[in-house]
Amino acid sequence: MKIFGVDIGGSGIKGAPVDLERGDLAEERFKVLTPHPATPDGVADGVKEVVHHFGWTGPVGLTFPGVVTGGATIRTAANVDKSWIDTDARALFSDRLGGHEVTVVNDADAAGVAEMAFGAGRDRRGTVILLTFGTGIGSAVFVDGALVPNTELGHLELNGHDAEKKASSKAKDDGELTWEHWARRVQKYLAHVEMLFSPELFIIGGGVSRKADKFLPLIEGIRAEMVPAQLQNNAGIVGAAMHARKRD
Ligand code: BGC
Repeated sequence: MKIFGVDIGGSGIKGAPVDLERGDLAEERFKVLTPHPATPDGVADGVKEVVHHFGWTGPVGLTFPGVVTGGATIRTAANVDKSWIDTDARALFSDRLGGHEVTVVNDADAAGVAEMAFGAGRDRRGTVILLTFGTGIGSAVFVDGALVPNTELGHLELNGHDAEKKASSKAKDDGELTWEHWARRVQKYLAHVEMLFSPELFIIGGGVSRKADKFLPLIEGIRAEMVPAQLQNNAGIVGAAMHARKRD
């Protein structure tokens, strides 16, 4: 079975039909740039361009980089335009696409669901936490494979700061931090999350997970096992499609 997945990120809107049995893209993905400011209207146009590129008419699952309740309503917008807050994104995208069946899920939750089914979290029980390091820090918490949605651990307070402002990969780029310097911040952050949740496993996701060999070996003193995400850039697209299927 195929469902279309779209991952809405700070820099790009990416999508492709997803083969749900294989947990992989059925065709090469297509990407457009996220408009700035990332308003509901501008993002909806980008989503339409991506979905129409494939001539897709079936159900569509989308990720959003904020809290999403009921598969539809946006509640927070840390790194996109604030006018998203309280928007019914399901209605917006469905209208813009011409009546497609649509569901929306938090981006890190989508990536986590995909990693648990097809990637680094396969067959893992107990408490597993996936963290995505990108424009912000996203989190997905699983207990015996079941997701606790919308956990927002990227906004934990660390040394008086919103953690993602210091330890996201954007913070590394903006501050031109060395891997060593950034790894120290990530280590502090992981230690804090570990103190609160004592997970068995941390899955480290986001674009920077491709370079896990540059920073994971520098992180010390964490009891939990730490592994890079396996689906990397496609986890959001695959997870969005999986979430849309679950609703059927
Ligand atoms: C948002 C989360 C999101 C994460 C990654 C954070 O700023 O609050 O909802 O999952 O960024 O995009």
